[in-house]
Amino acid sequence: MTQDELKQQVGRAAANYVLSNVAHGAVLGVGTGSTVNFFIDEVAAFKDRFRGAVSSSNASTARLRAHGFEVLELNDIETLPVYVDGADEIDAAGHMIKGGGGALTREKIVAMVAQTFVCIVDESKRVDLLGAFPLPVEVIPMASAAIARRFVDLDGQPTLRVAKDGSTFVTDNGNWVLDVHGLRIPDPVGLEAEVNNWPGVVTVGLFARRGANISLLGTKEGVHRID
Ligand code: 5RP
Repeated sequence: MTQDELKQQVGRAAANYVLSNVAHGAVLGVGTGSTVNFFIDEVAAFKDRFRGAVSSSNASTARLRAHGFEVLELNDIETLPVYVDGADEIDAAGHMIKGGGGALTREKIVAMVAQTFVCIVDESKRVDLLGAFPLPVEVIPMASAAIARRFVDLDGQPTLRVAKDGSTFVTDNGNWVLDVHGLRIPDPVGLEAEVNNWPGVVTVGLFARRGANISLLGTKEGVHRID
């Protein structure tokens, strides 16, 4: 199976999960990325089962609307039973690195509100130790060099993310992203707390304090569910 076929397989499994576990009329929390795109496409046929969706990025909002989903503001929602999102790495405890698509801040906000975080990944994302994937960190632009120096002190190699056209990548929130290479992260909860405290950091792409509750792992042998 190709990686896209594995992603489609978990996207379909996540659609089945929400159809079986989320009450009619509930609001769906929707993440960002190529795996989530498969989920959106799979669940779209059942959109009338939901009051609408809360989205974590402009890209997912556009895809949801193209399928006819109503996209609601998080401020208008009090409860969100399920949030479905991908990850760049996930460990056995459900700690994740996220933000490869640059949507980490809104993803963390929506995940905070959700009762259950369902992480959908192909098996290449499953790791024993986080850090081989460069850690994304959304920063206020004027703080980027100062924050980069702090990561160098931790033996990381930060690079400023560049968009496809060669310009500096700008998030949906108007900020920049540092991708920090070369980190080994044995204590993701501790590093998340530390980096969160640095002035100028908007969001660190470690989702450890609030990790995934359920992982759906796409493998050649089928989808494995890890609770
Ligand atoms: C976006 C994310 C994505 O969930 C993560 O990058 C995985 O993406 P993909 O499903 O395309 O591999 O965190 O900010």
